Amino acid sequence: MPRDSCFLQIKNGVRSLPNESTILKPLKKETNSMKVLITGSAGFIGNRVSQRLLERGDKVIGIDNLSPYYDVELKKSRLAQVKDHENYTEACFDMADREKMVAIFEEHRPDRVINLAAQAGVRHSLIAPHDYVDTNLVGFVNILEGCRQTHVEHLVFASSSSVYGTNEDMPFSVADKVDHPISLYAASKRSNELMAHTYSHLFGFPSTGLRFFTVYGPWGRPDMALFLFTKAILAGEPIDVFNQGNMRRSFTYIDDIVEGVIRVLDNPPTAIANAKDELPSNSKTAPFRVYNIGSDEAVSLMRYIEVLEENLGIEAKKNMLPMQPGDVAATWADVDDLKSAVGYCPSTTVEEGVKNFVNWYKDYYGI
Ligand SMILES: NC(=O)c1ccc[n+]([C@@H]2O[C@H](COP(=O)([O-])OP(=O)(O)OC[C@H]3O[C@@H](n4cnc5c(N)ncnc54)[C@H](O)[C@@H]3O)[C@@H](O)[C@H]2O)c1
Repeated sequence: MPRDSCFLQIKNGVRSLPNESTILKPLKKETNSMKVLITGSAGFIGNRVSQRLLERGDKVIGIDNLSPYYDVELKKSRLAQVKDHENYTEACFDMADREKMVAIFEEHRPDRVINLAAQAGVRHSLIAPHDYVDTNLVGFVNILEGCRQTHVEHLVFASSSSVYGTNEDMPFSVADKVDHPISLYAASKRSNELMAHTYSHLFGFPSTGLRFFTVYGPWGRPDMALFLFTKAILAGEPIDVFNQGNMRRSFTYIDDIVEGVIRVLDNPPTAIANAKDELPSNSKTAPFRVYNIGSDEAVSLMRYIEVLEENLGIEAKKNMLPMQPGDVAATWADVDDLKSAVGYCPSTTVEEGVKNFVNWYKDYYGI
């Protein structure tokens, strides 16, 4: 069942009705269609964002190099859903390629940009560090330069809940300190926030960083828990349960993420006139914001597995293991400021979301 918690705001322990800006607005825009450049358009989140923008009449230029980090056929199947759309332009290259990036910005001169391409994954950053530098740092500078040179109206980019490192204050707030990342992946995402702030300050173009919390759902990523668990359980193999199962996550359904990304895209930040009461993560000199984006409930990993078992009708064999290096026991998103700013309202429970994933998985793999 959808939750309705976002319709009540809690400030200083007092519940109140939302102000006008928190009331849900339809995704359909009143403005003219935009030209949006999206990186990672064959990826889990980027592909779904591309679909939603095309559905509402925007033009999308999608960049993706179909990196072999996980199943390229899955990426191609995602792309097949957008590539024939009359408003979709496909660009298959590496965003670390400076010349190609300059050329695509000059050719298309996008109104707005969403950077979702990245070398993702905490565990992989322990074995392939250079992949993170090439895409997440070099590629990101190319994005910033493109935005600067072609006067982009708004850059929205993916950060991650991993920037909170070993922070134990729950829920994670953008007011918390994020100076001690514990993986190169997290360090690269925190660097993106700092680099974007610098560009917004120096060159005045608006940018917004979104710290995503564990996203799952149909067309999800094969390197993430839900996909790995489903595959193993169906094959009769044991699943690896880290930290003896003592984990909690703000598991966030893909459609809730996509809706939030687009609401943010439609609301470029301005420099803050009266910055005195603002969160420390917001800029006092630049049109720049950072938000958490995710479910505002932290669900235990064992409950997540239980819901999956119920949907598959199979009890998992569990390999109980210690904590993985670079990983954290809990994440929990405080999204109050995103609710206030754009009416963000994550509403999909894990019961609903896992069911949708299992239905998609069985259909896609013909099970
Ligand atoms: N999915 C999550 O739970 C989650 C959590 C936190 C942050 N994020 C961030 O959100 C963004 C989207 O994540 P996702 O789950 O869709 O990941 P994904 O891996 O499915 O998508 C990323 C896409 O970027 C492409 N790509 C990688 N390197 C590239 C390069 N050098 N040039 C061009 N394309 C390149 C890949 O081929 C892939 O299709 C990423 O920045 C990720 O770090 C995701």
